[in-house]
Amino acid sequence: MEKRIAAATASYRLLTQKKYASKKILHHRRLIPNFNEVHRSCSNSGGFMPHCGSAPIQKFPRRDRQKSSLINIQNIPGIQHRTFGSAIIQRNPLFSTLNHDDIIYFEKTLGVKNVIQDDEELETANTDWMHKFKGSSKLMLLPENTDQLSQILKHCNSRHLAVVPQGGNTGLVGGSVPVFDEVIINTRRMNNIISFDEVSGVLVCEAGCILENLITFLDQKGFIMPLDLGAKGSCQIGGNVSTNAGGLRLVRYGSLHGTVLGLEAVLANGDVIDMLGTLRKDNTGYDLKHLFIGSEGSLGIITKVSILTPPKLSSVNIAFLACQDYISCQKLLFQAKRKLGEILSAFEFLDAQAMNLVLNHLDTLRNPLPSSIYNFYVLIETTGSNESNDKEKLEGFLVEAMESGLVSDGAIAQDSNQSASFWNIREGIPEALQKAGAVYKYDLSIPVEKLYDLVEEMRIRLGGKANVVGYGHLGDGNLHLNVSAPQYDDDILGEIEPFVYEWTSKHHGSISAEHGLGLMKAEKIYYSKSTGTVQMMASIKKLLDPKGILNPYKVIPQLLLST
Ligand code: FAD
Ligand code: MLT
Ligand code: ZN
Repeated sequence: MEKRIAAATASYRLLTQKKYASKKILHHRRLIPNFNEVHRSCSNSGGFMPHCGSAPIQKFPRRDRQKSSLINIQNIPGIQHRTFGSAIIQRNPLFSTLNHDDIIYFEKTLGVKNVIQDDEELETANTDWMHKFKGSSKLMLLPENTDQLSQILKHCNSRHLAVVPQGGNTGLVGGSVPVFDEVIINTRRMNNIISFDEVSGVLVCEAGCILENLITFLDQKGFIMPLDLGAKGSCQIGGNVSTNAGGLRLVRYGSLHGTVLGLEAVLANGDVIDMLGTLRKDNTGYDLKHLFIGSEGSLGIITKVSILTPPKLSSVNIAFLACQDYISCQKLLFQAKRKLGEILSAFEFLDAQAMNLVLNHLDTLRNPLPSSIYNFYVLIETTGSNESNDKEKLEGFLVEAMESGLVSDGAIAQDSNQSASFWNIREGIPEALQKAGAVYKYDLSIPVEKLYDLVEEMRIRLGGKANVVGYGHLGDGNLHLNVSAPQYDDDILGEIEPFVYEWTSKHHGSISAEHGLGLMKAEKIYYSKSTGTVQMMASIKKLLDPKGILNPYKVIPQLLLST
């Protein structure tokens, strides 16, 4: 059955209905629920052009060994201070250094093979995803369960040994790697799914479960994770919860503060705190799990998580659209929230600079709208349960958007390969930036109407010195401002900071929308939090971790913890 939809400025068409059978393993293994009705036309009628051809398979770079491009790192064993930009960090002299007895204790507790002293493995664990932050830890521990983790933390606390909790090490703010010689505690062996309730959709699992594995597990049960992000092939749910990761579907499913129903955590002294509730409603006193969601390993190590997962719905549609200017993207978002309403499940944007980076650095990807390079691209995803209604809604919305000039061109994915290829462009931006050289990454919440002004102002400030790139979760008011340069350079950094933080603060934004503070922004917290709030955070930290062994130098300004 053929159906034509004519718009004033352009037209596109939907052709035969087709069941999409195979589910391919795609970039980060993106699983797309069934496409029952698909767009089949490849004719370029100047309007929404269903995207033709399958995207080649693209693998997530797990820990590829690129040449290191570290900033101001003095990577000398035994070093007592390090410089990051203008900040000098002293190693806390109260921390002990490892001795032979510690190793013997850990080997007895975990088994020899789970006490890692191998240089190559440590090099990887000491270095962050961007190859920007690097520590010099001589030891990584791999506990298998909460009890083992409790025993090793108890030992570290009594010996005054500092530790870094580590999951998939995909964090982008230097939180997941040591600053000096902290012991790395990686949760990757704690990777069991404990239970799944098919009525309530509550999943209980260990912290070391890789996000993508959870997505696959749930897909087979007819559910989805309320969280999805480009690093899904490596990041762990414990790391996601510890960073309060936002990702690509927050606009629909909300933050982990809403979907994480409970968790178990081990405190610095080895005490296990059971907050692993599975209830949606529980008002019995303080809801302490929230302290651990987003605390980036500074208050305890998360060992188990219970999370509410939504059912997988049958109809998913993805449109890749081009807009001439930012105001059109903004208006499109305003309209999408109203016209698509409850079926809107993602609203992402990227600028031409981001698109160019992806096309230049990720060989297998191509622009779905190749006829010209537009200034902005928007990816809209809808997820619903009524195929024909959802499609009609999306089409109506797109026709209006074209007629009113908000959208200049667009393509609707006609099958799951094409959906994945649209998503790969958006999710490929961090990897393209990583390949392009050094990157200064800023993850900001800014009122939507002001959000892109910062990118433009930054471009003017930097002149031709660096490539300024803007993309992010527009539906959440979350800009990823990235400055890409051949190598790290103090002059460039001086142009960016503190300007970027001052600007964000002036516009009542947040200097960390979703990546956290880590090492990179611990000292910048006052740009987004009041003095009283930061002091209360420090008090809580001192209460739960009086010796300060958990992820030192991160999240909270050093001065507050040393007094
Ligand atoms: P790690 O990087 O290992 O650790 C992150 C922080 O959590 C560290 O401070 C660490 O000490 C702490 N931590 C880790 N595990 C535990 C634990 N069990 N208990 C206590 N503390 C722990 N973030 C987003 O929010 N949205 C995105 O869309 C997004 N996309 C990304 C795309 C790419 C390609 C990459 C590389 C990163 C992206 N990130 C994104 C950033 C990152 O925060 C997330 O990938 C993820 O949440 C980190 O999980 P992880 O297991 O890798 O944690
Ligand atoms: C993203 O949205 O792609 C991630 O948060 C990573 C990044 O900011 O580069
Ligand atoms: Zn993001």
